[in-house]
Amino acid sequence: MARFLQLSDLHVVAPGALASKRLDTPHLLRRAIDALCARLDAIGPLDAILVTGDISDDGSAESYDLARSELDRLGLPLLVVPGNHDCRDVLRNAFGDLPMMPPTGLIDWSLDIGETTVIGLDTLVEGQGGGRLRPESLSFFSNALEKASNRSVLLALHHPPLYTGIRFMDEIGLENCNDLEGVLKQCDRPVRIVAGHVHGIYHGALGPHTVVTAPSTCSAFALDRREDAFVGFMTGPTGCAVIDIGPDWVWTAVPLDHGPGPFNF
Ligand SMILES: [Fe+2]
Repeated sequence: MARFLQLSDLHVVAPGALASKRLDTPHLLRRAIDALCARLDAIGPLDAILVTGDISDDGSAESYDLARSELDRLGLPLLVVPGNHDCRDVLRNAFGDLPMMPPTGLIDWSLDIGETTVIGLDTLVEGQGGGRLRPESLSFFSNALEKASNRSVLLALHHPPLYTGIRFMDEIGLENCNDLEGVLKQCDRPVRIVAGHVHGIYHGALGPHTVVTAPSTCSAFALDRREDAFVGFMTGPTGCAVIDIGPDWVWTAVPLDHGPGPFNF
């Protein structure tokens, strides 16, 4: 068994700034990490924190330093993939000491933890919201799947290979889901795919492989599929997830704000 805490879409900005002119994301992240530190014992032993992109909102070095110092408070190994808001090389500077981090190029990695192979793929195309898996990432993934042999495989990427019906998010989704599906065809057992980007919980499938997206630590998008839907965000619900993976898996959404309680039944 391996267990991960998945955090996504932190959108941290430089101190004193606001994300989208409204969200004090450094404060929201601090509050999220405070809440999680208080809950770590209840969650049980974790192998790593998996961050599925959009660590920064503005790509500034200050935002990454701030995010790193907050994430380090959890006292666990960090695994990160970039999102569309990230700046690959600035991210790499702040997280370059992590064993999974390649020194140059795309942030694709593979790591064995217990009986699980965790693979991170880089879907960031700087300058655009939509994501794409380049040929080198697809062949990295193919090789990593081959090496994983019959171990459990957890794939993490920012842009999920699914559609939510939220038009403004689907327009900036993963451009080449088919290529990912093509590589997955070489794998005769289910790969568990986790992503972020859509700031909410969506569960779907790519062939026999399950796909699930984590909520953001800072904002959410309303499920409004109308053509004239408002293009914008809500301040919640926010959250993260716990992933228990072995031969089977359980992906558990963890809201960052519980209501009052617990109370006796
Ligand atoms: Fe995001």
